[in-house]
Amino acid sequence: MSALREAIDAAAQQIRARLPAGAAPTVGLVLGSGLGGWADDLADRVVIPYRALPGFPTSLVAGHAGNLVYGRSGGVEVLAMQGRVHYYEGHDLPQVVFPVRALIAAGCSRLIITNAAGGTDPRMVPGDLVILADHINLLANSPLRGLNADDVGPRFPDMSEAYDLKMRMLAAEAGVDLGLALRDGVYACFFGPAYETPAEVRMARALGADLVGMSTVPEVIAARHMGARVLGISCVTNLAAGITREKLSHAEVTETAARVRETFTRLIDRIVEKLGQEERP
Ligand code: HPA
Repeated sequence: MSALREAIDAAAQQIRARLPAGAAPTVGLVLGSGLGGWADDLADRVVIPYRALPGFPTSLVAGHAGNLVYGRSGGVEVLAMQGRVHYYEGHDLPQVVFPVRALIAAGCSRLIITNAAGGTDPRMVPGDLVILADHINLLANSPLRGLNADDVGPRFPDMSEAYDLKMRMLAAEAGVDLGLALRDGVYACFFGPAYETPAEVRMARALGADLVGMSTVPEVIAARHMGARVLGISCVTNLAAGITREKLSHAEVTETAARVRETFTRLIDRIVEKLGQEERP
């Protein structure tokens, strides 16, 4: 067995050991900047600090709690990550994606990966929620770099439907049910931690990106490597640099995320409910 497989299984085992008897979470969530509150309202919660889980890196960014939360939303059992680590914090990409790998190994074959992002489309308004259709990796690095662990996933995973079409449709339906004007878009992942320059934002827009951010893409690559299905949702917390004359600040990012908390919560609740229905034949 590869060292990576062993490490993932050990973390998944630790997670399971902390859950109530018979628990079987099937949906995993990564809650981005300011969006972690969703997991506070789950039923039958079990909170596991990342530091209790082998191989989990710990986040140092303000606004990113470091807890894995088990619970039920509607009838669906979930594992939600309150906070994530980023490449710019100094972790290597295999460490950045390790928690997502552990969630998948613990049974979450469907993931909802969320983030706060800057919008490159002047028609966007802070607070908009966007379903990811695709991404562009501008990190010039991959979590899969190095020897492949064949017992985790293939050397050359297909990325032609990185964001699962069925899950995207289900998310769109959830938006319609709730009367939300969701749109979809392409997310470009920058290195950070400095926000992009206006020229970089123009470049991203010219390349076809509607959103810019500093996360998500490595996690999605690792999830696809393991064959998990992924839904991505961005909260547009601000228009990207140069789109308006406003300067960017982390405070604005967390304020906008806090402002959409209720809408975001209703949307995720609804999507998870629909994922539960998908489970039943
Ligand atoms: N750029 C990069 N990351 C972000 C942004 C942004 O404008 N907003 C929130 N996260």
